[in-house]
Amino acid sequence: MTLLGVNIDHVATIRQTRGTAYPDILKAALDAEAGGADGITVHLREDRRHIQLDDVEILKKNIKTRLNLEMAATDEMVKIAQRIKPAYCCIVPEKRQELTTEGGLDVLKQEAYIKQICAALQQAGIQVSLFIDPDNQQIDAAHRVGAPLIEIHTGEYNLPKIKSAAAYAQKKGLIVNAGHGLNYDNVNAIAAIPGIYELNIGHSIVAEALFSGMKNAVHEMKRLVNISAK
Ligand code: PXP
Repeated sequence: MTLLGVNIDHVATIRQTRGTAYPDILKAALDAEAGGADGITVHLREDRRHIQLDDVEILKKNIKTRLNLEMAATDEMVKIAQRIKPAYCCIVPEKRQELTTEGGLDVLKQEAYIKQICAALQQAGIQVSLFIDPDNQQIDAAHRVGAPLIEIHTGEYNLPKIKSAAAYAQKKGLIVNAGHGLNYDNVNAIAAIPGIYELNIGHSIVAEALFSGMKNAVHEMKRLVNISAK
């Protein structure tokens, strides 16, 4: 069975746009788990545009499944991960101006550095995953730096490329996850790829949750308004 990691970054996006205490990130994580999430994923970005350090600490202490921390390959993030010890760290490329993660990590270009980061995280008991494009050279590099897992970037949604990259990586003994840009219309074909261990999905789930919850949310506000109305 393919596992589902639920990325709740965009629950924090809503909170950060107003600087409010709501929506509660832990409640979002616990509700995701109640819905069957096998893991909770968050990306602590350098610019802290959505998830904050406190969120990561609270999630690590309170979720029932396992925390997957997406992070840039920086010394600051390695120190945070070594202290908080999420079950997984997924190393992603990060640019300040991007709307979301654009493309996979170039492991080939910075092999020695990524190898060092993988070793430092693994010494802290963290499982390391590298978010890479469906590209055999990047898969070879991920294997060489000692990452046991890769997450294939599905953003471009080139199905034949993703399928062949998954098979190539699995042959090398890597555990293969996939994610980015998956939604209710395009998930089936990716989930059907043999041997994919986990899919990480965020934006489409948070968007869909608005509609699953809108009726109840308005109903409750209307109830409060009516109780108080004179
Ligand atoms: N996997 C990785 C490595 C990501 O960076 C993201 C986005 O934060 C996701 C999965 C989830 O992507 P989406 O929000 O498009 O489902």
